[in-house]
Amino acid sequence: MLASYARKWQQMKPIPTVARAYPLVGHALLMKPNSKEFFQQLMQYTEEFRHMPLLKLWIGPVPMIVLYHAENVEVILTSSKQIDKSYVYKFMEPWLGLGLLTRMSDKIFRRMKMPWFWLDTWYLMFKEGREHKRDLKILHTFTKNVIHERINEMKANEESKGADSGPVLSTKKGKAFLDLLLSVTDDEGNKLSPEEIREEVDTFMFEGHDTTASAINLSLYLLGWYPEIQKKVDSELDEVFGKSNRPVTLEDLKKLKYLEVVIKESLRLFPPVPLFARRLNEDCEVAGYKVVKGTEAIIVPYALHRDPRFFPNPEEFQPERFFPENAQGRHPYSYVPFSAGPRNCIGQRFAVMEEKTILSYILRWFWVESSQKREELGLSGELILRPNNGIWITLKRRNSDESQLCTPAVPLS
Ligand code: HEM
Repeated sequence: MLASYARKWQQMKPIPTVARAYPLVGHALLMKPNSKEFFQQLMQYTEEFRHMPLLKLWIGPVPMIVLYHAENVEVILTSSKQIDKSYVYKFMEPWLGLGLLTRMSDKIFRRMKMPWFWLDTWYLMFKEGREHKRDLKILHTFTKNVIHERINEMKANEESKGADSGPVLSTKKGKAFLDLLLSVTDDEGNKLSPEEIREEVDTFMFEGHDTTASAINLSLYLLGWYPEIQKKVDSELDEVFGKSNRPVTLEDLKKLKYLEVVIKESLRLFPPVPLFARRLNEDCEVAGYKVVKGTEAIIVPYALHRDPRFFPNPEEFQPERFFPENAQGRHPYSYVPFSAGPRNCIGQRFAVMEEKTILSYILRWFWVESSQKREELGLSGELILRPNNGIWITLKRRNSDESQLCTPAVPLS
């Protein structure tokens, strides 16, 4: 084992790295103690190494390459072989669904940083491991109860077939996600086990909820800083809806082209999944450097999306960058808020529709003003990009004769 580690160390030596990596612990001593500070630290490294094609860190005995250049991100994301999720996800798996809690992301982060906590049996011998197990039980019990309630509703519905009363279940044509999972069978007629259903529900809750919430919050924050852009959104909304308060339709969503580029540009500056990882399951070459099997490749959309070669003045919020004529010829892997390739986000079209629906609803009625500077948001990239200090916005009523202040300031977090 030691010989293999020494060989890896030797083979990976030429890759640019941050100073002070020690044998076995690697850069673990250098890494900041919590996920918020670690995120800031990693973003600082990517800026310092912007002129280099990639950056290497040793997390204990595991080598990690950090990727923020489109050309190198492409190598990993287009590979049909490098599709295994990183070891970091192993610690996250049981938690899926609880991205909201800092307590949990800090635990995952600490565990990732400390190789001696990687073994389950060993981890459970410590207070932290036992707490982790207890919290997990609360989460799983919650999801299980939701599933059981639905099963009971379905049973009751079966029994009272024909009667008018009882809960309304989704029709065959448009089955809700949970109903579909509960009814699906394989070729031999076997249904999914309750545990398998719970895992699917947790995945969708985690991947689908916090991500879109983060995207909507940060879009509002940006619009609140750029009144000229918000005015353009408002003109489009007025064109599509006039002063009507009717609900938004699918046809409306298609017409909201400017809102769409606003959403894209917000996802560029504040990608809700600011970094994600792959475990390389065979040796490969990245930017001319040999990268050994077992390395963790960390793709960092937050840094990738700030590459001035593709996005001049990267910190500026300029939705026009995504007008088709301006996006033409841009490297396809310079912008991957939903990842890309064989393991990309399956909910991306739905996510954009959801964002358009919610943002159009808010912006039809309110004018948004933001007061915090970016550095005051306290951004952290635990699992999802999160403004740790909340987002403080002021909403003013639109489309009414008097521009009436709605609330002094509304925190969104
Ligand atoms: C703005 C909103 C969203 C963003 C930015 C986003 C981003 C991503 C990213 C970057 C990944 C790849 C993660 C990785 O490789 O580790 C991913 C995967 C995934 N997303 Fe999304 N997502 C969003 C919304 C949604 C929604 C609404 C759903 C479902 C309703 C969803 C379902 C999934 C699933 C199931 C995966 C895992 C795919 C796989 O592992 O093969 N996402 N998402």
